Amino acid sequence: MKMTRRVFCAGLATVPLMRPAQAQDMPLLTARSATVQLAPDGYPATPVWSYDGTIPGPVIRAAQGSRLQRRLVNTLEVPTSVHWHGIRIDNAMDGVAGLTQDAVPPGEFFDYAYDLPDAGTYWYHAHTNSMEQVARGLSGALIIEEATPPDVDRDEVLMIDDWLLDPDTGLFVDDFAAPMVRSHGGRIGNLVGVNGRYNYRLSARQNERLRLRLINSANAQIFGLKLEGLTGWTVSLDGMPLDTPEPVTDTLVLAPAQRMDLIVDVTAEERETAGLLFAAADDTWRVLAEVSVEGRAASVPRGAPQPLPRNPRMEVVGVDAAPVLEMPLQGGAMRGLESAAFNGQKLTWQELVQQGQFWALAGQAGLGEAPFATLSRGETARIRITNDTIFPHAMHLHGMHFRTRKEDGSLGPLRDTVLVMPNETTEIAFVADNPGKWLLHCHMLGHAASGMTNWIMVR
Ligand code: C2O
Ligand code: CU
Repeated sequence: MKMTRRVFCAGLATVPLMRPAQAQDMPLLTARSATVQLAPDGYPATPVWSYDGTIPGPVIRAAQGSRLQRRLVNTLEVPTSVHWHGIRIDNAMDGVAGLTQDAVPPGEFFDYAYDLPDAGTYWYHAHTNSMEQVARGLSGALIIEEATPPDVDRDEVLMIDDWLLDPDTGLFVDDFAAPMVRSHGGRIGNLVGVNGRYNYRLSARQNERLRLRLINSANAQIFGLKLEGLTGWTVSLDGMPLDTPEPVTDTLVLAPAQRMDLIVDVTAEERETAGLLFAAADDTWRVLAEVSVEGRAASVPRGAPQPLPRNPRMEVVGVDAAPVLEMPLQGGAMRGLESAAFNGQKLTWQELVQQGQFWALAGQAGLGEAPFATLSRGETARIRITNDTIFPHAMHLHGMHFRTRKEDGSLGPLRDTVLVMPNETTEIAFVADNPGKWLLHCHMLGHAASGMTNWIMVR
């Protein structure tokens, strides 16, 4: 802990935290090292990088229509920045080091301040070397509340994550950039948990109604989820309400960075097991969050919920007439690439591998000088994402939500992250109404760091 203290003090020395007016105006979010018990009791604790000393970071709640302000204070020994995932944000506040801001050096700070047009479930995470920084713990939930909340008894955030730990030492398996992992499915943990705990548990009463805000903050793991002893409806995806709540009848799929709000009635009898289960690697269902049922809230469950109120200005219009941009996803183990552009040069597969680049989006590995597309503000765009690799990818667009467009022209729900399976083609359509430089990347963070990151310019 000696080192932690030194860094912390060094950070304070260069940050004018002592001005009370300033500190009052701008609440702090401090990136710092900490030691937390991620593994079950009896195993060693884990040194992490955190926001404010906890895993996950503090739940940030704010009202729709308000302005959020946080001063990121960096007391880590590495530069960092914060991305506010899914918010239709002012581009300068998007937190992408190297595109929308410089990373914040150790000991320095950056003030984030932006308006919140939309209610919903979002999250924040490091966007500087995210492959390592998010894996070490730099993420938290960001909840934007509706003016009139839905009729539920409780609102619970369940941030689902996995950690790759050495059980003997409690340390993260520290090859965050292992080429073998980055060229395959990505960093998958050996311990899965909710809100920083491997055995997360809630207690509830029979027929109590809960809103569960599920967030997948894992680096690469796609979670298959199901409910037990709970009768539920999906009411929103990636922060955006569904027009009609959908009864949960089947396995729910939550890819990295995706969110899903469920409204559930606790229908299990007292002392029966209820909760959220996940499909483990060995194909068994395991408890992810247990709900222990004690007492009764009502004699009968409430039945289908009302839809959540829509967010403003979300119409995706003019889709059929919009031009289609092609974005093949290429590369990775077993497929490779003949060649791709990287840093302005055309490289062979071997040269790309030497540069740690295993993937490409539309023939380009990593951010190029020029954007993938330049759009005028208000223009509708379509991007056809074809997965030519043998791995799934969770494609995320910053700054704007999109709808998927089926071949028959029908549009799917609003999302900011879409899972594209091998050999699948998914078309996304959106109105480019937010000016600035916006990333479009795979949210399997090892993939993003190894080629699967591009950007779009909205003028
Ligand atoms: Cu959740 Cu580019 O990020
Ligand atoms: Cu990917």
